[in-house]
Amino acid sequence: MSEKACHLISPPPASATQDTFGRVVDYLRVSITDRCNERCLYCMPEGYKGWERKPDHLTAEEIVRVVRVAAGMGFRKFRLTGGEPLVRADVPEIVRTMAAIPGVEHIGISTNGSKLGVLAQPLRDAGVGTVNVSLDALDPAVYRRITGGDLNAVLAGIRAAVAAGFERVKLNCVLMRGVNEHELWPLVLFAAEHGLPLRLIELMPVTTTDVLTEKNFMPVSEAMELLRLKDELIPQPDWRLGFGPAKYYQLKHTGARVGFIGAMTNLHFCETCNKMRLTADGKVRPCLGDHGEIDLREALRHASDDVAVRELLASALQRKPLEHQFRGSYQPCRPMTAIGG
Ligand code: 5AD
Ligand code: SF4
Repeated sequence: MSEKACHLISPPPASATQDTFGRVVDYLRVSITDRCNERCLYCMPEGYKGWERKPDHLTAEEIVRVVRVAAGMGFRKFRLTGGEPLVRADVPEIVRTMAAIPGVEHIGISTNGSKLGVLAQPLRDAGVGTVNVSLDALDPAVYRRITGGDLNAVLAGIRAAVAAGFERVKLNCVLMRGVNEHELWPLVLFAAEHGLPLRLIELMPVTTTDVLTEKNFMPVSEAMELLRLKDELIPQPDWRLGFGPAKYYQLKHTGARVGFIGAMTNLHFCETCNKMRLTADGKVRPCLGDHGEIDLREALRHASDDVAVRELLASALQRKPLEHQFRGSYQPCRPMTAIGG
């Protein structure tokens, strides 16, 4: 067939990782475990027992193989998530191997921070560029209520991450009215003091506890109003602190950099989506807020060449929906801890 005729049948995509809506999807969030040493209200249903069997988790070799195939397709940015990725002992080794793969331009990690005190430097040395740490409160009792964890370990982890010299360390806070709204201003001051961007994230329906009530949900607009009582918010439309969907503001007097992630209330939220997810049990999830998943594990375990893996990744990309289903009567079948944050 002539080149021209071929083009008529299937025009070449502008990018190997473009979806059917023209979005360039070059960011893969890789969950390496569904286990966690904390149990955040917004992530894990109370008394959660749905853990995957360990043999169902991808091995380090399988994870790295997916990353290699994805990088060959044009994915450039990778983020290890969980559960809590740092409960896996082989993370530094996974990162080191990933960092050597041609096409892998960036490796980030999202963590609850509790193990960073020990692991920050080894992760930096292995090739992690940026770290996002969940920090939902600065009052130890409120922190414990939300996460079940120990705030001091996390603060030590954040200090270790800053000292380790990552390109960027960011703080994530999930907004919950009546739970941590009084923590927002202390968090802003903490972020300003340490020079770390703080992202305030709308609660998404990815757990099944009563945390998802209207009463608990706080839109980013309300968080902005609360901060405006204390300081002036100067929009920074040009700031791109990473590859995520936050809209950034600088606070005039404190100097804090605060990003707002309006996953639920911003109707344009999905227009610039650039990512897909890989779950710890080897499923590609084109969208966090859509039940569609494509299994890679069978292909990883039974096909010796990468063609099948590549085709499955490509078909997941083609099935990436226009937007998430969270605003309808979405019922999470798997909680966030199982999908990957
Ligand atoms: N809604 C919004 N954000 C969430 N995260 C986890 N669960 C939820 C949820 N239900 C965020 C946390 C964590 C990141 C990986 O995902 O802020 O830092
Ligand atoms: Fe663990 Fe992170 Fe889920 Fe909290 S949000 S329970 S720290 S995986």
